[in-house]
Amino acid sequence: MLTLLLAGAASTRWPVVYLSLEEARSVLEQFRERLPAELRPFGPDAAASWEAWVRARDAEIRARVTAGEEESLVNLVLFGTSFTNQRRVTPADLLAGNPAGATDEAAREAGRQFGLLLRARMDDFLRALAQPGGNERLAIARRLLQAKGFDATDAETHDAIRQYLLALFVRISQQQAHYAELLATARAFEDPTQQFIERSQLFRDRGLSVDTSLVPNFAIQESLKELRERGMLTRHSVRRVAILGPGLDFADKQTAYDFYPLQSLQPVAVVDSLRRLELAAAGGVAVVTLDINPQVNAHLARAQQAARRGQSYTLQLPRDPQVRWNPEFTAYWRSFGDQVGVPATPARVPPALAGLQIRAVRVLPKFVARIEPVDLNIVVQRLVLDAPREGFDLIVATNILVYYDAFEQGLALANLTRMLRPGGLLLSNNAVPEVPGLGIRSVGYRTTVYSDRPDDGDHIVWYQKSASDSGR
Ligand SMILES: C[S@@+](CC[C@H](N)C(=O)[O-])C[C@H]1O[C@@H](n2cnc3c(N)ncnc32)[C@H](O)[C@@H]1O
Repeated sequence: MLTLLLAGAASTRWPVVYLSLEEARSVLEQFRERLPAELRPFGPDAAASWEAWVRARDAEIRARVTAGEEESLVNLVLFGTSFTNQRRVTPADLLAGNPAGATDEAAREAGRQFGLLLRARMDDFLRALAQPGGNERLAIARRLLQAKGFDATDAETHDAIRQYLLALFVRISQQQAHYAELLATARAFEDPTQQFIERSQLFRDRGLSVDTSLVPNFAIQESLKELRERGMLTRHSVRRVAILGPGLDFADKQTAYDFYPLQSLQPVAVVDSLRRLELAAAGGVAVVTLDINPQVNAHLARAQQAARRGQSYTLQLPRDPQVRWNPEFTAYWRSFGDQVGVPATPARVPPALAGLQIRAVRVLPKFVARIEPVDLNIVVQRLVLDAPREGFDLIVATNILVYYDAFEQGLALANLTRMLRPGGLLLSNNAVPEVPGLGIRSVGYRTTVYSDRPDDGDHIVWYQKSASDSGR
């Protein structure tokens, strides 16, 4: 008999357990040569070492959330428009801010100007932090600073906060240079599959970013469409969906828009696509979201509770007209939400972003009420699924497995497989290792291009759980 270890953060409606040694066995075998030191001596005490490792690793992974939030904080300070009238920082400013590039007087002057802009933005940010009002991002930033020991309401601490922000800015710039190098190394692989595998673990040491955007949802819709055309998904067959790492539109590294309220796109986007493609079951689609970020889970829980009181959930959909988007993506953007909501008045675009296109959708409460957030770390945890909570027909996992190495991706796959129904599908834009004995394998992929910018697209890999392996 396997013991089910109930994890601390378990939801009452959805029991969460740690992956057991038995369940992880095939992954441990596959990575035998590359296991963490604590897991190598596989003797009679293996079960005890496994349980200790799993708990310690859970805590370590969860600690990476703060580093991700720090990155979002820096993006907010550099690019946000909700707390300042100063102009947004541009890529040219960031280059000028790098003293290594200052080879002549003009470059040094550009560097000084960038320093002044940064200082002015930080001052506005600190002033706004004292009174965040309804600005959720500032409220989150204030809590993050508090957790780091800074009281943003006390002007005496402002110098220390500026120093902290500058140190973060330097750390993140260095990290970005490091990731650019890793990406170049991955690109050097001649075999495109090997390249994709390398890129799929690119952020294995990085803070866990919370950010999200519309584009991966377009790629998921394109994959769902092809799966339907190939008969791998049939009409009205999808009843239960899990979204792994739904994220929150806080201030991402590409656009960092902060002029509309926080929102989570993917749980709504997937239902919208399933309905558009007539894949959603007649009785509707139940969605469970799995995330370790407390902000994400609290946001979705609030949205669900509000929906149960009859309130709708509004999504803002900005689109930069300066990018040459693929026409199919533009069509997706135009129709987004028409299966789950009605057009709404978009947020006012600030002068700093003049020209930005935006539409908004008011998602009907009946769809949001069926989104159930659960706190779960996919590397070491899974949901217990028995009747009436049966396995998922579909799990969507975009821009999340890239934060883990191959061994941890293998563990995540073990957890994901156990949560799928036999024959159920996992769609991911990262390639994960196929582990013999897990009962899941890749059955195809689709590449979707978003715009004519270099590398602006995703490969969505389709993994299918074996139909006969119902015991897993
Ligand atoms: C970069 S966001 C991606 C959001 C969205 N899926 C998308 O593609 O736009 C990654 C999300 O995964 C969550 N996440 C990261 N590691 C996780 C883990 N081990 N278990 C569950 N959620 C995790 C983060 O908290 C965040 O919400």
